[in-house]
Amino acid sequence: MFETVGVVGCGLMGAGIAEVCARAGRHVIVREVSEDLLRRGLERIDESMERGVARGKLTDADRKAARGRIRGTTALRELRAGEIVFEAIIEKMDDKKRLFAELDGICPAETVFASNTSSLSITEMASATKRAERFLGLHFFNPVPVMKPVEMIRGLRTAEETLTRCRAFCEALGKTVIACKDYPGFIVNLLLVPYLLDAVRALELGVASKEDIDAAVRLGLNHPMGPLTLLDFVGIDTTYYIAEAMYAEFKDARYAAPPLLRKMVLAGFHGRKTGRGFYEYPGAA
Ligand code: CAA
Repeated sequence: MFETVGVVGCGLMGAGIAEVCARAGRHVIVREVSEDLLRRGLERIDESMERGVARGKLTDADRKAARGRIRGTTALRELRAGEIVFEAIIEKMDDKKRLFAELDGICPAETVFASNTSSLSITEMASATKRAERFLGLHFFNPVPVMKPVEMIRGLRTAEETLTRCRAFCEALGKTVIACKDYPGFIVNLLLVPYLLDAVRALELGVASKEDIDAAVRLGLNHPMGPLTLLDFVGIDTTYYIAEAMYAEFKDARYAAPPLLRKMVLAGFHGRKTGRGFYEYPGAA
Protein backbone atom coordinates (compact mmCIF):
# COMPACT_ATOMS: atom_id res chain seq x y z
CA MET A 1 0.00 0.00 0.00
CA PHE A 2 1.17 3.53 -0.86
CA GLU A 3 4.21 2.21 -2.75
CA THR A 4 5.14 5.73 -3.88
CA VAL A 5 5.11 8.52 -1.35
CA GLY A 6 5.41 12.27 -1.83
CA VAL A 7 6.81 14.52 0.89
CA VAL A 8 6.64 18.31 0.75
CA GLY A 9 9.39 19.87 2.85
CA CYS A 10 12.76 18.34 3.71
CA GLY A 11 13.39 20.05 7.05
CA LEU A 12 13.63 18.16 10.35
CA MET A 13 10.28 16.43 9.98
CA GLY A 14 10.04 16.02 6.19
CA ALA A 15 13.51 14.46 6.07
CA GLY A 16 12.55 12.05 8.86
CA ILE A 17 9.28 11.06 7.16
CA ALA A 18 11.09 10.52 3.84
CA GLU A 19 13.70 8.38 5.62
CA VAL A 20 11.27 6.08 7.44
CA CYS A 21 9.15 5.59 4.30
CA ALA A 22 12.23 4.69 2.21
CA ARG A 23 13.50 2.37 4.94
CA ALA A 24 10.13 0.61 4.82
CA GLY A 25 10.62 -0.07 1.09
CA ARG A 26 8.63 2.83 -0.37
CA HIS A 27 9.74 5.04 -3.24
CA VAL A 28 9.88 8.63 -2.03
CA ILE A 29 9.83 11.91 -3.93
CA VAL A 30 10.71 14.76 -1.60
CA ARG A 31 10.33 18.39 -2.59
CA GLU A 32 12.06 21.48 -1.28
CA VAL A 33 11.69 25.05 -2.55
CA SER A 34 15.34 25.57 -3.55
CA GLU A 35 18.31 23.45 -4.59
CA ASP A 36 20.18 24.61 -1.50
CA LEU A 37 17.44 23.55 0.95
CA LEU A 38 17.03 20.29 -0.93
CA ARG A 39 20.74 19.52 -0.66
CA ARG A 40 20.69 20.26 3.08
CA GLY A 41 17.59 18.10 3.54
CA LEU A 42 19.10 15.14 1.68
CA GLU A 43 22.30 15.53 3.74
CA ARG A 44 20.16 15.36 6.87
CA ILE A 45 18.70 12.05 5.65
CA ASP A 46 22.20 10.72 4.85
CA GLU A 47 23.52 11.66 8.29
CA SER A 48 20.54 10.09 10.05
CA MET A 49 20.81 6.84 8.11
CA GLU A 50 24.55 6.69 8.76
CA ARG A 51 23.77 7.10 12.46
CA GLY A 52 21.29 4.24 12.11
CA VAL A 53 24.04 2.04 10.60
CA ALA A 54 26.53 3.07 13.31
CA ARG A 55 23.95 2.13 15.98
CA GLY A 56 23.29 -1.23 14.32
CA LYS A 57 19.67 -0.38 13.38
CA LEU A 58 20.16 -1.06 9.65
CA THR A 59 22.82 -2.61 7.46
CA ASP A 60 24.90 -0.58 5.07
CA ALA A 61 23.29 -2.43 2.15
CA ASP A 62 19.81 -1.49 3.45
CA ARG A 63 20.94 2.11 3.89
CA LYS A 64 22.13 2.25 0.28
CA ALA A 65 18.93 0.63 -0.99
CA ALA A 66 16.74 3.01 1.04
CA ARG A 67 18.72 6.04 -0.12
CA GLY A 68 18.32 4.82 -3.71
CA ARG A 69 14.54 4.97 -3.27
CA ILE A 70 14.60 8.68 -2.33
CA ARG A 71 14.51 11.26 -5.09
CA GLY A 72 14.70 14.99 -4.41
CA THR A 73 13.05 17.67 -6.52
CA THR A 74 12.19 21.34 -6.44
CA ALA A 75 9.15 20.81 -8.74
CA LEU A 76 5.87 20.32 -6.90
CA ARG A 77 4.24 18.72 -9.98
CA GLU A 78 6.53 15.68 -9.57
CA LEU A 79 4.53 14.74 -6.49
CA ARG A 80 1.66 13.68 -8.73
CA ALA A 81 3.27 10.21 -8.71
CA GLY A 82 2.68 9.88 -4.93
CA GLU A 83 -0.23 7.69 -3.76
CA ILE A 84 -0.01 9.57 -0.47
CA VAL A 85 1.50 13.03 -0.05
CA PHE A 86 2.81 14.21 3.31
CA GLU A 87 3.04 17.92 4.02
CA ALA A 88 5.82 19.00 6.40
CA ILE A 89 6.25 22.73 5.74
CA ILE A 90 6.18 25.76 8.04
CA GLU A 91 3.52 25.71 10.78
CA LYS A 92 1.37 28.47 9.24
CA MET A 93 -2.20 27.83 8.13
CA ASP A 94 -2.18 30.17 5.11
CA ASP A 95 0.97 28.57 3.69
CA LYS A 96 -0.42 25.08 4.21
CA LYS A 97 -3.78 25.90 2.61
CA ARG A 98 -2.09 27.48 -0.39
CA LEU A 99 0.10 24.40 -0.80
CA PHE A 100 -2.77 21.94 -0.50
CA ALA A 101 -4.91 23.88 -2.99
CA GLU A 102 -2.04 23.67 -5.49
CA LEU A 103 -1.41 19.98 -4.79
CA ASP A 104 -5.14 19.32 -5.25
CA GLY A 105 -4.84 20.51 -8.83
CA ILE A 106 -1.71 18.42 -9.46
CA CYS A 107 -2.43 15.05 -7.84
CA PRO A 108 -5.01 12.45 -8.97
CA ALA A 109 -8.28 12.55 -7.03
CA GLU A 110 -7.54 9.25 -5.24
CA THR A 111 -4.25 10.47 -3.72
CA VAL A 112 -4.40 10.78 0.08
CA PHE A 113 -3.14 14.03 1.63
CA ALA A 114 -1.59 13.90 5.12
CA SER A 115 -0.46 16.94 7.05
CA ASN A 116 2.28 16.59 9.66
CA THR A 117 0.96 19.69 11.43
CA SER A 118 1.58 19.70 15.18
CA SER A 119 -1.42 21.79 16.12
CA LEU A 120 -3.41 23.29 13.22
CA SER A 121 -6.90 22.25 12.14
CA ILE A 122 -7.04 19.36 9.68
CA THR A 123 -10.64 20.25 8.82
CA GLU A 124 -9.60 23.78 7.85
CA MET A 125 -6.68 22.58 5.69
CA ALA A 126 -8.90 19.99 4.00
CA SER A 127 -11.34 22.76 3.09
CA ALA A 128 -8.73 24.10 0.64
CA THR A 129 -9.10 20.88 -1.40
CA LYS A 130 -11.84 18.83 -3.05
CA ARG A 131 -10.77 15.66 -1.20
CA ALA A 132 -11.67 16.22 2.44
CA GLU A 133 -12.58 12.48 2.70
CA ARG A 134 -9.01 11.55 1.78
CA PHE A 135 -7.37 14.15 4.00
CA LEU A 136 -6.05 13.57 7.53
CA GLY A 137 -3.33 14.52 9.99
CA LEU A 138 -0.38 12.17 10.56
CA HIS A 139 1.82 13.83 13.16
CA PHE A 140 5.28 12.28 13.62
CA PHE A 141 7.76 13.09 16.39
CA ASN A 142 11.36 14.20 16.22
CA PRO A 143 13.65 12.30 15.60
CA VAL A 144 11.23 10.47 13.30
CA PRO A 145 13.31 7.28 12.83
CA VAL A 146 13.57 6.88 16.61
CA MET A 147 10.24 8.05 18.03
CA LYS A 148 7.45 5.47 17.97
CA PRO A 149 4.16 7.38 17.92
CA VAL A 150 2.17 8.95 15.13
CA GLU A 151 -0.88 10.97 16.11
CA MET A 152 -3.57 10.21 13.53
CA ILE A 153 -6.01 13.09 13.33
CA ARG A 154 -9.45 12.77 11.87
CA GLY A 155 -10.90 15.89 10.29
CA LEU A 156 -14.66 16.34 10.36
CA ARG A 157 -14.93 14.90 6.84
CA THR A 158 -12.11 12.31 6.87
CA ALA A 159 -13.46 8.94 5.64
CA GLU A 160 -13.17 5.80 7.78
CA GLU A 161 -11.42 4.06 4.86
CA THR A 162 -8.70 6.74 4.79
CA LEU A 163 -8.06 6.19 8.49
CA THR A 164 -7.95 2.40 8.12
CA ARG A 165 -5.46 2.57 5.23
CA CYS A 166 -3.26 5.16 6.92
CA ARG A 167 -3.20 3.25 10.20
CA ALA A 168 -1.98 0.13 8.34
CA PHE A 169 0.59 2.21 6.48
CA CYS A 170 2.01 3.80 9.65
CA GLU A 171 2.16 0.38 11.30
CA ALA A 172 4.12 -0.88 8.29
CA LEU A 173 6.60 1.93 9.00
CA GLY A 174 6.98 0.46 12.51
CA LYS A 175 4.99 3.22 14.21
CA THR A 176 2.36 3.11 16.94
CA VAL A 177 -0.76 4.96 15.87
CA ILE A 178 -2.61 7.12 18.38
CA ALA A 179 -6.02 8.25 17.17
CA CYS A 180 -7.05 11.76 18.02
CA LYS A 181 -9.76 14.21 17.08
CA ASP A 182 -9.11 17.51 15.34
CA TYR A 183 -8.44 19.64 18.40
CA PRO A 184 -5.69 22.35 18.66
CA GLY A 185 -2.41 20.73 19.73
CA PHE A 186 -3.96 17.23 19.51
CA ILE A 187 -2.66 15.23 22.52
CA VAL A 188 1.07 15.79 22.82
CA ASN A 189 1.27 19.50 22.09
CA LEU A 190 -1.84 20.26 24.13
CA LEU A 191 0.21 19.06 27.10
CA LEU A 192 3.74 19.87 25.96
CA VAL A 193 3.41 23.48 24.78
CA PRO A 194 2.26 25.05 28.11
CA TYR A 195 5.09 23.17 29.84
CA LEU A 196 7.73 24.44 27.38
CA LEU A 197 6.40 28.01 27.60
CA ASP A 198 6.45 27.82 31.40
CA ALA A 199 10.12 26.83 31.26
CA VAL A 200 10.88 29.93 29.16
CA ARG A 201 8.91 32.06 31.65
CA ALA A 202 10.90 30.55 34.53
CA LEU A 203 14.10 31.54 32.73
CA GLU A 204 12.75 35.05 32.02
CA LEU A 205 11.80 35.44 35.68
CA GLY A 206 15.28 34.37 36.77
CA VAL A 207 13.99 31.40 38.77
CA ALA A 208 17.16 29.51 37.79
CA SER A 209 19.75 29.31 35.02
CA LYS A 210 18.91 27.49 31.80
CA GLU A 211 21.31 24.70 32.77
CA ASP A 212 19.63 24.26 36.15
CA ILE A 213 16.10 24.34 34.73
CA ASP A 214 17.10 21.58 32.31
CA ALA A 215 18.99 19.58 34.92
CA ALA A 216 16.04 19.78 37.34
CA VAL A 217 13.69 18.20 34.80
CA ARG A 218 16.22 15.71 33.49
CA LEU A 219 17.20 14.45 36.91
CA GLY A 220 14.02 15.17 38.86
CA LEU A 221 11.55 13.81 36.30
CA ASN A 222 13.85 11.46 34.38
CA HIS A 223 13.07 13.14 31.04
CA PRO A 224 15.71 12.49 28.37
CA MET A 225 16.03 16.25 27.78
CA GLY A 226 15.26 19.33 29.84
CA PRO A 227 12.65 21.73 28.39
CA LEU A 228 15.07 24.33 27.01
CA THR A 229 17.19 21.67 25.32
CA LEU A 230 13.99 20.16 23.96
CA LEU A 231 12.92 23.58 22.63
CA ASP A 232 16.25 23.85 20.77
CA PHE A 233 15.71 20.33 19.46
CA VAL A 234 12.13 20.86 18.23
CA GLY A 235 12.86 24.39 16.92
CA ILE A 236 12.21 27.72 18.63
CA ASP A 237 10.40 28.99 15.52
CA THR A 238 8.21 25.89 15.23
CA THR A 239 7.24 26.04 18.90
CA TYR A 240 6.50 29.76 18.60
CA TYR A 241 4.17 29.18 15.64
CA ILE A 242 2.43 26.32 17.46
CA ALA A 243 1.95 28.50 20.55
CA GLU A 244 0.61 31.39 18.45
CA ALA A 245 -1.89 29.07 16.75
CA MET A 246 -3.04 27.61 20.07
CA TYR A 247 -3.33 31.06 21.64
CA ALA A 248 -5.40 32.26 18.67
CA GLU A 249 -7.75 29.33 19.20
CA PHE A 250 -8.08 29.31 23.00
CA LYS A 251 -7.31 32.95 23.97
CA ASP A 252 -5.79 31.43 27.08
CA ALA A 253 -2.63 32.97 28.59
CA ARG A 254 -1.18 29.48 29.07
CA TYR A 255 -0.51 29.36 25.31
CA ALA A 256 0.78 32.94 24.91
CA ALA A 257 4.40 32.91 23.75
CA PRO A 258 6.70 34.70 26.24
CA PRO A 259 8.53 37.76 24.80
CA LEU A 260 11.87 35.94 24.95
CA LEU A 261 10.62 33.24 22.57
CA ARG A 262 9.43 35.83 20.05
CA LYS A 263 12.71 37.73 20.25
CA MET A 264 14.66 34.54 19.63
CA VAL A 265 12.57 33.83 16.52
CA LEU A 266 13.23 37.35 15.21
CA ALA A 267 16.95 37.05 15.97
CA GLY A 268 17.20 33.78 14.04
CA PHE A 269 18.04 31.74 17.15
CA HIS A 270 15.87 28.83 16.06
CA GLY A 271 17.69 26.12 17.98
CA ARG A 272 19.98 23.32 16.89
CA LYS A 273 19.16 23.67 13.21
CA THR A 274 20.52 27.26 13.06
CA GLY A 275 23.44 26.58 15.42
CA ARG A 276 21.98 28.65 18.25
CA GLY A 277 18.93 28.60 20.47
CA PHE A 278 19.08 28.62 24.24
CA TYR A 279 22.41 26.85 23.75
CA GLU A 280 25.03 27.01 21.02
CA TYR A 281 25.74 24.20 18.56
CA PRO A 282 29.02 24.94 16.82
CA GLY A 283 29.13 23.61 13.29
CA ALA A 284 25.42 22.66 13.28
CA ALA A 285 24.09 25.50 11.09
N1 CAA B 1 17.73 5.42 12.99
C1 CAA B 1 17.34 4.46 13.85
N2 CAA B 1 17.60 4.46 15.17
C2 CAA B 1 18.33 5.46 15.64
C3 CAA B 1 18.80 6.49 14.82
C4 CAA B 1 18.47 6.44 13.44
N3 CAA B 1 18.82 7.40 12.58
N4 CAA B 1 19.48 7.36 15.58
C5 CAA B 1 19.44 6.90 16.85
N5 CAA B 1 18.75 5.74 16.88
C6 CAA B 1 18.44 4.94 18.07
C7 CAA B 1 19.68 4.47 18.82
O1 CAA B 1 20.14 3.27 18.28
C8 CAA B 1 19.14 4.28 20.22
O2 CAA B 1 18.39 3.07 20.26
P1 CAA B 1 18.59 2.01 21.46
O3 CAA B 1 18.06 2.74 22.69
O4 CAA B 1 17.76 0.85 21.03
O5 CAA B 1 20.05 1.75 21.52
C9 CAA B 1 18.12 5.42 20.35
O6 CAA B 1 17.74 5.75 19.00
C10 CAA B 1 18.69 6.65 21.05
O7 CAA B 1 19.75 7.16 20.25
P2 CAA B 1 21.11 7.77 20.80
O8 CAA B 1 21.74 6.82 21.74
O9 CAA B 1 21.89 8.22 19.62
O10 CAA B 1 20.73 9.11 21.49
P3 CAA B 1 20.28 9.48 22.94
O11 CAA B 1 20.19 8.30 23.84
O12 CAA B 1 21.13 10.63 23.28
O13 CAA B 1 18.78 9.96 22.66
C11 CAA B 1 17.01 11.25 21.76
C12 CAA B 1 18.50 10.96 21.74
C13 CAA B 1 16.24 10.02 21.23
C14 CAA B 1 16.77 12.42 20.85
C15 CAA B 1 16.58 11.53 23.25
O14 CAA B 1 17.35 12.60 23.77
C16 CAA B 1 15.12 11.87 23.37
O15 CAA B 1 14.27 11.00 23.39
N6 CAA B 1 14.81 13.18 23.49
C17 CAA B 1 13.45 13.67 23.57
C18 CAA B 1 12.85 13.64 22.19
C19 CAA B 1 11.44 14.18 22.17
O16 CAA B 1 10.84 14.50 23.19
N7 CAA B 1 10.89 14.26 20.96
C20 CAA B 1 9.58 14.75 20.74
C21 CAA B 1 9.66 16.20 20.52
S1 CAA B 1 8.06 16.87 20.26
C22 CAA B 1 7.80 16.68 18.62
O17 CAA B 1 8.59 16.21 17.87
C23 CAA B 1 6.50 17.05 18.09
C24 CAA B 1 6.10 18.45 18.03
O18 CAA B 1 5.12 18.68 17.41
C25 CAA B 1 6.77 19.56 18.67
